[in-house]
Formats: sequence, C-alpha cells, structure tokens
Amino acid sequence: MTKPIWIKHAAQLATLATDVKGPRSKEDASNLGLIENGSLWIEDGIIQAVGTTEELEERYKDKLAQADILDASNHLVTPGLVDPHTHVVYGGSREREFEMRLEGATYMEIMNAGGGIHATARMTREATEAELMEQTICRLNSFLEHGVTTVEGKSGYGMNIKTELKQLRVMKKLQEQHAIDLVPTFMGAHAVPPEFKGREDEFVEHLINDMLPVVAAEKLAEFNDVFCEKGVFTPEQSERILEVGKEYGLIPKIHADEIEPYGGAELAAKVGAISAEHLLKASDEGIEAMAKAGTIACLLPATALYLREEAAQGRKMIDAGVPVAISTDCNPGSSPTTSMPLVMNLACISMRMTPAEALTAATYNAACAINREKQIGSLEAGKQADVVLWNVKNYQELQYLFGVNHVHSVWKKGVRVVSGKQTKANVNAHVFSE
Ligand code: NIG
Ligand code: FE
Repeated sequence: MTKPIWIKHAAQLATLATDVKGPRSKEDASNLGLIENGSLWIEDGIIQAVGTTEELEERYKDKLAQADILDASNHLVTPGLVDPHTHVVYGGSREREFEMRLEGATYMEIMNAGGGIHATARMTREATEAELMEQTICRLNSFLEHGVTTVEGKSGYGMNIKTELKQLRVMKKLQEQHAIDLVPTFMGAHAVPPEFKGREDEFVEHLINDMLPVVAAEKLAEFNDVFCEKGVFTPEQSERILEVGKEYGLIPKIHADEIEPYGGAELAAKVGAISAEHLLKASDEGIEAMAKAGTIACLLPATALYLREEAAQGRKMIDAGVPVAISTDCNPGSSPTTSMPLVMNLACISMRMTPAEALTAATYNAACAINREKQIGSLEAGKQADVVLWNVKNYQELQYLFGVNHVHSVWKKGVRVVSGKQTKANVNAHVFSE
C-alpha cells in the first residue's frame, strides 16, 4: 500500500468537474469547476476526494499522519493535460524541409516530390522496433515534462502492413512500459505510398482487405483516421475506409480541410466521427453539420503557425456549438513539438479562445476526443490521479505567460513523475514552500 497523498491549499484548483456530461461547447466550455484553497486526496492512484482544504482536513483527520502532504499555496493545480492527436512514433527528422518551406516551397509540393510524409515513411520503415521505441520514449518524456499525462498516437508512417504494425506494436509496448497513457489510432490512410502511385483505389482496397482485419484482430487500435485532402484521399475513399473500419469496431477520426476546403467536416459529421482534426479551411456548412452531430473539432494551432497558415476558427466553432479540443499534432513535418502549454497559449492568441476555453480544450474535451472522459480529463473522486501543479497562481496566468513551460510537478496515477521544478521565467511565481 502506498502512502495517501494530500495536496492542500492550492490557490486555485481547476477541477473541470461540472454537471455537463460529454464534450463542452458555448458557455459550458468556460466552466472550470474552480475551487479556491483547493485540496485533493489521492490513494492507490485514484482521486478519493476533492474539496476545500478545510473540508478534506476534517474528512481525513484520522489519516493525516500517514499521508504525504504537499502545500500548494500560491499555485494552480489542474488535471493532467491530454493530447488527443499525435504522430509520436516515427523515425528520423526533417529539418531540411523546414528550411525549404521558409525558402518558399509548400507542404504539398514537398510531399508530392517524395518528401514530407513519404520521407518519414522511408525512415520509419528502415528503423528497427528498438530504435523507434527509444526515439518515442524521449518524446513521451518531454510530453510528461510539459504536463501531458495521456497521448493519442497514430500509425501512418508505414502505409504497408509491416511498418504500420511495427508502429502500433511500439505503442502497445510503451503503453505497458511508460508512465504516460498512450491511446492508439490506425492511420494507414495517411498518404498513398509510392508503390501504389496512380493506383489509389487499389491501395484503399488493400488497406481495407489486408490491413484493417489484422489491426482489429490484434486489437492494436481504437480509432481509424484518414487524411482526407485534395491529392491524398478523396471524401469518397475516406468514407469507405472509415465505414469499413466501423465494422471492425474502430471509431472514425478524420484529418479534414487542412489545406483546402474539401468537405471533410461534413464527412466527419456524416460518418459519426468522434472528432475532425485541423479544419483550417472548414466551411460554414461543415461547422454547422459538426455542431448538429456533436463532432468534436480537434484544433491544432501549432501546426497552423508552423505552416504559416491562418489558424482554424476556434472562436466561431465554440460559438456555433461545436465542442473544441486542442492538440500538438506532434509530428516531424508540420508540428515538431510536444508542448501542450504552447498550444493552449496559441489557442488564445491565434484562435481567440478564452484562457478557460483553452484549458477545457486541453483536458476534458481532449479526453472526450479519445473516449477517455470517464477516467481522465477532470479532477473528480473515482478518476485516475493524473494531476499537474503549475508555477502560476491561476489559469489566466498559465495562458498569459506564453511559450514557457510552467510545470512544477506531475502525478501520473498518483505517482509523482515530474518533481519540483521552480521556473525562473515567471516574475510572479512564488517560492514553493515544500
Ligand atoms: O496532421 N496532415 C497530415 N498529417 C500530419 C503531418 C504529417 C507529416 O508531415 O509528417 C498532420 O499535420
Ligand atoms: Fe495529424
């Protein structure tokens, strides 16, 4: 039996616990369930109680002597951040493409010339499972240091059975070995591989007949994602892949309307996707369809910034009733970052989301986007004790002091995996009393 943990006197405890069940939009996205002088009691990796310091002190008075007590005075405490969209398992890196884009090449030009996703696919096909594990562990460690305790990860840098399975098996192993929780998505339809060039429909049939059944039989993925974009997969091909995936129990997700408006948001609503990703160029009709269907918009403002594109219309989507989640999109081409705090900053700066909406999008709504809202995404009795203590005193300060990692400590399932960092960047930060 591990010792109970009592976190007390948090200047602000953002529980994200509200009466609204399911992903939040409109005014519900601003309700952070704040408790001043907040307090959490954790035992066996599970949150046992949430309340004010006085309430929990009274309730656990007979157990206080056995507990690890942490005085969080002057600090904000939140649920562990959730990143619902990453391509975290990949080989190599593509820094030369970054230069090429600054010199004027576009993302699609580079990809069509055999770079981009194809370049990473070559490096991922060549990498051994051990090499992929090692590289991915480094990235997962960095996620944890940025306050992220659950990460969705996609395959899609193989586009052949062998490498798609290699990526998914790496995720399965890391789910068992690494502190972070990994949620796997099959994305064999990330690009048409060179060996199928000009035979796109044949590749779709190959994916459906030869890849999906194996992924499902080995239970290697929960979600099925498609890059629905002009020059990649058409809405018709995407629909077919997602519909057949459903027959195998895989929940649809879709990379939609990133580069050009292409009906991706509409398709997400039509196939009942849990989320649609990117949406930089989503049409008004698409946004309306998503609001009606309850599709979560998973927005990636770091990707938009990195590609020097206008960000998605986060403000408009929330006002229209679409629940918004945010994510790093961590990948070697369009968003090589593991910083969810930066993504929260950018959600405010480039999508005009409020600081409260950005925190909801990175916690509870993000958990909804990967079907995990019953276990994580808010601080409530019975949920996993995934908790972050920040070097700021409230959620506004977290979003206001941008581009800096304000993580002080991270608990994953009640175990303190990041510990005691006092950043010097916040002139307002108070010396931690531990
Ligand atoms: O979500 N848009 C497609 N896929 C990734 C990028 C992958 C890459 O460039 O390697 C994305 O941005
Ligand atoms: Fe992506």
